[in-house]
Amino acid sequence: MSVKPNLISQPASLGLDDVVAAETMLSHVDGQAGELIIRGHHLGELSDWPFEQVLELLWAGQTPDVLTAQDIGSALGEARVKAFRIMQPFLPGLRGLAPVEALRLLLSALPDSAREPHHILAVAAVPVFTAAIARQAAGLIPVAPNATLGHAADFLSMLRNEEPQADKVKALDTYLVTVSDHGLNASTFAARVIASTKAGLFSSVIGGLCALKGPLHGGAPGPVLDMLDEIATPARIEPWLEDALARGERLMGFGHRIYRVRDPRADVLKGAVSTLNDGSGRIAFASKVETAALALLQQKKPLRPLQTNVEFYTALLLEAVGFPRDSFTNVFAAGRMAGWTAHVLEQEQTGRLIRPQSRYVGSPCANLSGSL
Ligand code: ACO
Repeated sequence: MSVKPNLISQPASLGLDDVVAAETMLSHVDGQAGELIIRGHHLGELSDWPFEQVLELLWAGQTPDVLTAQDIGSALGEARVKAFRIMQPFLPGLRGLAPVEALRLLLSALPDSAREPHHILAVAAVPVFTAAIARQAAGLIPVAPNATLGHAADFLSMLRNEEPQADKVKALDTYLVTVSDHGLNASTFAARVIASTKAGLFSSVIGGLCALKGPLHGGAPGPVLDMLDEIATPARIEPWLEDALARGERLMGFGHRIYRVRDPRADVLKGAVSTLNDGSGRIAFASKVETAALALLQQKKPLRPLQTNVEFYTALLLEAVGFPRDSFTNVFAAGRMAGWTAHVLEQEQTGRLIRPQSRYVGSPCANLSGSL
């Protein structure tokens, strides 16, 4: 008879660093080479694709229907209209909440009984809810979706109530694709854990959103702009960054658990941002802050390369296309919903209940006479 090793006597890997907890056909992050591969394609190749085409790639083989990017575009358009209808009675009651809390509550209103495939409704709903939440906070009424527009174009149209400019649509499409999937990041892991209990797609992706909103994950881009605002002038860049590091603060938009070289998503987004009008000089200023921050981080941690991550250029891009900064995490969720849904579908098809062990380090039980 084989006896299982006593797992609870093993040291715990507290951040699960280097633990392989799932097999996936969806994406691979190579932290040494600085590469992100999504279903056999380097991110650099995908960054020119429309979001709908990346959804086709991520969802391929995960559902009984074979959907082309065009089918997905039409289905998303119809599902945005449905999400808008579902949202209406709930929206006024969400005034005053942080946008990500309002998004979480609205996602909970999506019915498990929906006739649309849940992965399509989940992806369609996030831009509808995000735009309406942002408009309500600004004292404006929500704008109905236009099912004939592409997903990124309709997102901007619902946000701004005007015909979206082509360069901004392109930049937003590139953003949604760039953040669509990224291995077993914290929010995707959370979604897979929930999916492994067979709780269903909406519950799983709401769990993903709850993990995303933390400042160590998808909550960082708003604070990147706060940092740029506080620094304010070129003369203050170095002293401000030195003081923050001396206080032991982390610079938002830098560092990553997996990447030991530059996050490839940062370069794709930097390229996308450079196509937008920088009338205010914000992007040029941010680039100076980035250079100074990298030099100081290198001095502070010569043995732990800390590089620019996706959130730094996310902040600049989302500001330039017109999102208010407290919506940034919701816009991230609009892109990452592609990956969450694909991982949930994959987990539901192939996965086993995810149930790791913990190592007990509390008081010994009295009636075991301290013999733990
Ligand atoms: N600024 C300053 N110091 C940093 C930073 C930073 N941005 N990131 C890491 N460090 C320091 C840590 O304090 C730690 O120092 P110590 O050894 O003296 O305690 C050392 O570098 C090593 O840190 P790691 O263990 O490699 O960091 P970890 O993997 O735990 O964290 C994280 C990664 C959370 C992204 C971190 O770099 C961070 O907090 N960055 C700022 C927030 C941010 O930009 N988040 C977005 C991440 S991208 C995404 O999730 C989409």
